[in-house]
Amino acid sequence: MYLCEKIRIIYIPMLKERINNLLAEVEKFKADNAEQIEALRIKYLSKKGEISALFDEFRTVAPEQKKEVGQLLNTLKTKATDKINEIKASFADKGPVAADLDLTRTPDPIPMGTRHPISLVRNKIVDIFSRQGFVVADGPEVEDDWHVFSSLNFPPEHPARDMQDTFFITRDPDVLLRTHTSCVQTRVMEHQKPPIRVLCPGRVYRNEAISARAHCFFHQVEGLYIDKNVSFADLKQALMFFAKEMFGEETQIRLRPSYFPFTEPSAEMDISCDLCGGKGCGFCKGSGWVEILGCGMVDPNVLESCGIDSKVYSGFAFGMGVERITNLKYRVKDLRVFSENDTRFLDEFKSAY
Ligand code: DAH
Repeated sequence: MYLCEKIRIIYIPMLKERINNLLAEVEKFKADNAEQIEALRIKYLSKKGEISALFDEFRTVAPEQKKEVGQLLNTLKTKATDKINEIKASFADKGPVAADLDLTRTPDPIPMGTRHPISLVRNKIVDIFSRQGFVVADGPEVEDDWHVFSSLNFPPEHPARDMQDTFFITRDPDVLLRTHTSCVQTRVMEHQKPPIRVLCPGRVYRNEAISARAHCFFHQVEGLYIDKNVSFADLKQALMFFAKEMFGEETQIRLRPSYFPFTEPSAEMDISCDLCGGKGCGFCKGSGWVEILGCGMVDPNVLESCGIDSKVYSGFAFGMGVERITNLKYRVKDLRVFSENDTRFLDEFKSAY
């Protein structure tokens, strides 16, 4: 009995001292992240933690001491719990950054925009011809009769000048939206002396009802090369290089005689149908060939009307529809999707070059 009492007398001040020491530790609680705070909780408040161990010991405290020691222990437990919650709350205020900052984590993907298929194909056309020495030239979309028609040898009664085809901006028939990019040829020739080697990409307008196969605006790329001794063979070579670069090395070309007011002779160029390899299919209407552009040797009248001596210089020109090339490359059947800006369609070109 005596011994037991003696032990208790020594034991109680020790227990109080341990509680007070823990209280001091709790005051100094610090954590920089969620893991550290959890480690504190486990060390002090879990079932096997230090405060729980004190509660176990508390059971052996003499009844007359229980009140004082119990109060002290409860204070310790409350303070520890409050302090841990307080630190957790301070993390929550700063958001997940402070609590769970992990700089090695892959960021959430930001949805990237895509280039429009027309831009992709236009850029590819420009790239292929720039490797043959062509530079880009630009001209206005609102034009006059001279640049769009007269300088290009269109006779006054030519149907392309008609209201049916051309959008006139004012009552004055001399202000109109360009119906083709061939007018940039004139603008370049007026200001530049040969040798000239330009590529003119741009938007053109025609008074057409909008359908799957026609639109009131679309895109063209015009090419013009003028120098001494430029021949039809040069034209053919430039276009063959283009066709193979654009559609693949195995692509064949053929030139059919045609008519354009600004070229003489004129031709239309077909490429072998890459769907059936030239055997004939529904896409090429059984012929094995699909038309992709118009071309020819620049008519001497055009050179002269732009102040270039046609006895000294010759040249070739070609013009192609960007939508047409895009359709051939990506099989887009309905022209209208190009201007609808439906992101489901545009997203399909995410992985295109
Ligand atoms: N300008 C013509 C069109 O819009 C395309 C064209 C054909 C352009 C032959 C040319 C050419 O330069 O030589 O249909």
